[in-house]
Amino acid sequence: MNKDHKVLYSGMQATGNLTLGNYLGALKNWVGLADEYECYYGVMDLHSLTVRQDPPAFRAHARELMMIYIAAGIDPEKNVLYLQSSVPCHAELAWILNCYTYIGELQRMTQFKDKSAKHADNVNAGLFTYPVLMAADILLYQADVVPVGKDQLQHLEITRDIAQRFNGIYGDVFTVPEPYIGKIGARVMSLQDPSKKMSKSDENPNASIYLLDDPDTIRRKCRRAVTDSEATIAYRDEQPGLKNLFDIYCACTGKTPEEVVHEFAGCGYGQVKEALSEAVIAVLAPLQEKVKELQKDKSYIDNVMKTNAERAYYTANKTLRKVKKKIGLTDVR
Ligand code: TRP
Repeated sequence: MNKDHKVLYSGMQATGNLTLGNYLGALKNWVGLADEYECYYGVMDLHSLTVRQDPPAFRAHARELMMIYIAAGIDPEKNVLYLQSSVPCHAELAWILNCYTYIGELQRMTQFKDKSAKHADNVNAGLFTYPVLMAADILLYQADVVPVGKDQLQHLEITRDIAQRFNGIYGDVFTVPEPYIGKIGARVMSLQDPSKKMSKSDENPNASIYLLDDPDTIRRKCRRAVTDSEATIAYRDEQPGLKNLFDIYCACTGKTPEEVVHEFAGCGYGQVKEALSEAVIAVLAPLQEKVKELQKDKSYIDNVMKTNAERAYYTANKTLRKVKKKIGLTDVR
C-alpha cells in the first residue's frame, strides 16, 4: 500500500445478499483502485444494526462479505479490508461528531425519511444518526475521495459539512472528502421493474441476481425478467426492460450497446435472455469459485480480519487522538 497516495474510503453494509448491481456498479471497479489510492474498504456491520438482525446469520453475512471482497479481487494486502466493529474508533468518533451535527440536518436526509417509512415499527435513534457514523468512517481515515452511488451522495455532503464545521472551530483536523469521480460502474436496474435500481433489500427475489446464485437460478431470473411487447431489438429509453438487460450484458462482456444491438438483430427476447444468463454466469463463476475456496480456509479469513483491523486501527486512532486533544478530552495514556 502506497502511503504517498491519496486516500480512498468506501464500504458496504453487512446485510442481505450482494447483487449483480453491487458487483458491476461498485465492487468490480474497486479492484484496480489500489494502484492509484491508499484504499480502505469496510464491512459496515455497525450500520446494519439499525435494522434488527438475527445474530448468527448476521455474523455469517459479515464474514461472507469479507470473502466476497477478496474473491472479487480486492487484495487484503494492497488494500485495507476490515470489519467496522473491529475498530472501536468508529463508534467513538461518531459520538463526538453527533455533538457537532444538527437535528435539522439529519431530518433532511432522504434515506432517513425513506427508511423510517419502511421500518415504521423500529424508527430507532441509530437510523437517525446513521449519517454521522458514516461521516466518522470517512473522516477517521482522512479520505480524499469516496466512491458512492447516487443514493449516498447526500450522506457524503453532510460528511463534508460536519468536517468543515469541525475544522472551522479547531483548525484543519479533517480532510474534506470529495465524491470519487472515476470510471463509473454500470447502473443495474431491477429485473422486475426497470425504473428501480437492483437492490439487495428488494422483497422480490426475482428482481435481483445475487452474487452467489447458482446457474439455474440465474437462468430462471433472466428468463422472467420484464421486457415489453414491442418485440424489437433496440437500445432505447422507451424499452427500459430490454435496455437494462443490454446494459448488464455490456457490463459482463465489455461490448458496446451498438455491438449488442447488431449481435441480436432479428432475434427474439428469449435469445437475448439466454445469452445474458450465460454471460452473467461466466462473470460470476470465478468469484463464486473463490468464495467456496475461502469458505474452506477459516484461519485465512480470521487472519485477514485480524491483521487488517490492526492496520485500520492504526490510521483511525491517529485521527481520533488528534480530535480528542483538539476538543479538550484528556489523554491519560
Ligand atoms: N451507507 C453506505 C451504503 O449503504 C455504506 C457505508 C457506510 C459507506 N459507511 C460508509 C459507504 C462510508 C462509503 C463510505 O451504501
